[in-house]
Amino acid sequence: MKLPLILNGDDVTLDGDTRESLFTVLQREAGVFQEKTNCRKGTCGRCHVVLDSKEVPSCLVPFFQVKQREVVTPEGFSQTDEYRQFRLILDEEGLVECAECTDVQIFHLFSYLELFPQAGKEECRMVIGEIPCRCGSRPVLERGAARWLERKEAVRVGRR
Ligand code: FES
Repeated sequence: MKLPLILNGDDVTLDGDTRESLFTVLQREAGVFQEKTNCRKGTCGRCHVVLDSKEVPSCLVPFFQVKQREVVTPEGFSQTDEYRQFRLILDEEGLVECAECTDVQIFHLFSYLELFPQAGKEECRMVIGEIPCRCGSRPVLERGAARWLERKEAVRVGRR
């Protein structure tokens, strides 16, 4: 079954079975989520996408439901200016890249901030903690998120 959808801003047609999840089809047909170990049960957070503005675990979304819908993956988000600016902050904070969780955590954090732009440091800390992490980068991400919020506030009050 071939379905048209918008993937990371591009019109694409992906081929999948009605029993397959969006995650499985994205992995096979679009080459995303290649480096991550995934639970495929909706608990690890490593397959999250934004589907029509809502963050969802793609392993629980039937592929047939995404016809004509808009899907953004962490790989797609990593091409944005917002991502690049945040990565600069993280690099200054000494982030050691982890192929398993870094981009997933950043994606999850910014999906949350998109929905809740008034979120504070404590909420960001909670959101970062929702993605399983074995590399120990959470404190760096938390410092980066705090600086990101400070920067946003400085822009808001006209100090930058
Ligand atoms: S693969 Fe773990 S939540 Fe989808």
